[in-house]
Amino acid sequence: MTKEIYHPLSNRYENGMEYRRCGKSGVVLPKISLGFWHNFGGVDSYENCEAIARHAFDHGVCHFDLANNYGPPYGSAEETFGHMMDKCFRSLRNELFISSKAGYDMWPGPYGNWGSRKYLISSLDQSLMRMHLDYVDLFYSHRFDPQTPIEETLQALVDIVRSGKALYAGISNWPADESRKAFAYLAERDVPCLIYQGKYNIIDRFHAEPGGVLEACAGNGVGFIAFSPLCQGILTDRYLHDIPADSRAGHGRLSRSELLTEESLAKVRRLNEMALRRGQTLAEMALTWVHSDPRVTSLIVGASSVRQLETNLKAVSAAALSPEELAEIAEIMK
Ligand SMILES: NC(=O)c1ccc[n+]([C@@H]2O[C@H](COP(=O)([O-])OP(=O)(O)OC[C@H]3O[C@@H](n4cnc5c(N)ncnc54)[C@H](OP(=O)(O)O)[C@@H]3O)[C@@H](O)[C@H]2O)c1
Repeated sequence: MTKEIYHPLSNRYENGMEYRRCGKSGVVLPKISLGFWHNFGGVDSYENCEAIARHAFDHGVCHFDLANNYGPPYGSAEETFGHMMDKCFRSLRNELFISSKAGYDMWPGPYGNWGSRKYLISSLDQSLMRMHLDYVDLFYSHRFDPQTPIEETLQALVDIVRSGKALYAGISNWPADESRKAFAYLAERDVPCLIYQGKYNIIDRFHAEPGGVLEACAGNGVGFIAFSPLCQGILTDRYLHDIPADSRAGHGRLSRSELLTEESLAKVRRLNEMALRRGQTLAEMALTWVHSDPRVTSLIVGASSVRQLETNLKAVSAAALSPEELAEIAEIMK
């Protein structure tokens, strides 16, 4: 680990980043946020993690997204962030918007998964210890739990915010109908849902369907943040010709490997040609596409290198896709 002291760029907020208001809240978020799901675990190089996070912060990316089980091993991405907090970001805490979540498997036994009050509250306590934080800015229920009464999960979020361990509450991966119930429950208790975190990219468009989550968010003053906007790297030039050994698929960690078929890669190649015609990389065009929906507050990219992040940040100021170009993308994805 380097001993060099981190001095963030003084022009970090005039460096190209743009910010969007999160629903009807007082919070604005950068159009691009950084995710810690992959590349920040105990198996990854700490030097590389720190370089990516510093590059992000130097370019106005002040929102970092974590969860209890990001790694591998579980918990280690939060530990990596805790090291960075001590080494780089402690004096910058008030400039950072940090989220974490609980909802998927974290520890053995009946209390380390899903949506009980027991799990959510004890998991957040552990996350705070790993991240060396007193509070997170945002805490999510990571998925809807059909076995736990919806009121129990939501009241746990209310109580977490009231306890000061999180400033805002959010939900992720909840079905649209339950999301509407959640928005109403939380608003009635003066802990309005800040944001919904959902998978949204050129391939995964279901949240935009009529009656879907994007509509519910917009109708309730709730923000929306898109995860996996590059479909885990499939919407980049990564897999156009082969599966690189150093890629997520090459490491056997691509959960969408069913998309690496000739049929779907043929569509990705057509998207790539279109991006090149626009003078963009495919990654930039895929992010521009997500930004083209004004209901999207921010998107959370992953990056395994500073170089990838540099490319992705160019999407902030990219020319918007025209209606004809959006129609061409829809036609390719039919
Ligand atoms: N709420 C949830 O359930 C949930 C689920 C998933 C993700 N998330 C959040 O969303 C974040 C992002 O998810 P994600 O990592 O799947 O996002 P993504 O941005 O779709 O994919 C990131 C991966 O794409 C590749 N990549 C990125 N930029 C590239 C570029 N310019 N050129 C070529 N390849 C590039 C890299 O893969 P290589 O490693 O192959 O280089 C990188 O690790 C997560 O970290 C997490 O915070 C939340």
